Order: sequence, then structure tokens, then C-alpha cells
Amino acid sequence: MPSASKFWDRIAERYARQPIADEAAYQKKLQLTREHFTPDMRVLEFGCGTGSTALVLAPHVAHIHAIDISPKMLDIARQKAAANHIDNVTFELASIDALDATEPRFNAVMGHSILHLLDNKDETIAKVYRLLTPGGVFVSSTMCIADSFKMRMIKAVVSVGALFGLLPQLRAFTQKALLNSFTTAGFEIAHQWQPKPNSAVFIIARKPAGPTRP
Ligand SMILES: C[S@@+](CC[C@H](N)C(=O)[O-])C[C@H]1O[C@@H](n2cnc3c(N)ncnc32)[C@H](O)[C@@H]1O
Repeated sequence: MPSASKFWDRIAERYARQPIADEAAYQKKLQLTREHFTPDMRVLEFGCGTGSTALVLAPHVAHIHAIDISPKMLDIARQKAAANHIDNVTFELASIDALDATEPRFNAVMGHSILHLLDNKDETIAKVYRLLTPGGVFVSSTMCIADSFKMRMIKAVVSVGALFGLLPQLRAFTQKALLNSFTTAGFEIAHQWQPKPNSAVFIIARKPAGPTRP
């Protein structure tokens, strides 16, 4: 993990300056997310990066606890929160791997452009399920590398950099496998959308409101 956080620290300033690749798709994802959010909600975002999504959605919920492993990403996020006078987002240096999940304590969890970076997405999805209160939603946007020849080629190149600790390791799985991970964890798929072939897959998954698995 330390080398991963060094990589994200190194690119944080550049990442913050990068324009959103598909603004229309991003706006639609925000809109779909807002439809599942209510003003009383407590939300977790893991891998929040420079905080853009958390800060846009903050006015629609009670509180967002946003975590990331990169101190530099979080510095930028905190500066943006202060500049925009947003005080209901807490930014914390933490890995999703280390987050305590003994009690359900969030009504919604977001994880964007992160599941394909984790050593074990299934463990994380199961952890998110435990963190959510019944009826809670997990909103994610994930590149399904194994579905795309181009992305598989990029992964091959990135893997060489990862061997030397220069780039983060990417995990390749298909959209079908990702959906299977959600349903195996106990989630129901409320929304699934891929704006373009080979773009990230946007999923809103719900923890059933009734009796759930522990
Ligand atoms: C591709 S960026 C995505 C940032 C943001 N979610 C977005 O959509 O713009 C991935 C982020 O995940 C963070 N990250 C990587 N592994 C993590 C982990 N195990 N726990 C929390 N954050 C992590 C990185 O530091 C980085 O800021």
C-alpha cells in the first residue's frame, strides 16, 4: 500500500487539473446518485481522490466521510472544501482495507474508479455490505478491464511499471464478474449503466431492506 499511496501523491496535482473525460456521463451519474440520496443520510466515500464527487453531493446529504490513502489528494480535497465553504465532508487518511466494518453505520457508500485497483474487490464489496444499513446503497463506477482489448493492453504495460513499484497494479475482471460479486455479497442491482462501450460501468446496488445476511 505505501507504494500505491506514493503513486497517487505524485500525480495528485495533475489529477486535480485533468478535465472529466465524459462530462455528460458524469453529470448523469451524479443525477442518478442524487435520486438515491436524502438529506438525513450518512455517506462513506472510499478512494475519494481530490474530493470532487463528495463535494458536489454534500449539499444533498447530512454528512460524507471521505477516505483515501493519498495525503496529497486529501490536501487538495480539503482546500476545495474550505474554498467552497462545505463543512459536512470529513476527509480522512485511511484505506478501505483497514476500515472497521463490525457495525452498519452508513446509509450509502460510494467507490468510484477504485474497485479495479484493490487486491480483492470481493472482500471490499462484502465489507461495504456490512457497513451499510438495511436498504442502503453502494454507488460505484468501475472500469471492467477484461471486457476491453485496449484496456487489457494498457494493463499489460502498467503491470511492468507495477513490478518496479512505479504504477499501481490494475485488476482485470468483466462486467459480468463484477455484477456477480455484488449479488454474491447479497446486493440487489438497482441500476446498471455503461455510457459507452469500454467506459466505466456505473452500478447502484442496494442492500435489501428486509432481513439480511450478517
Ligand atoms: C483513480 S483515483 C479515483 C479518485 C476519485 N474516486 C475519482 O473518481 O476521481 C483512485 C483513488 O483511490 C485511492 N486509493 C487507492 N487504494 C485505496 C484504498 N485501498 N483505500 C482508499 N483509497 C484508495 C487513491 O489514492 C486515489 O486517490
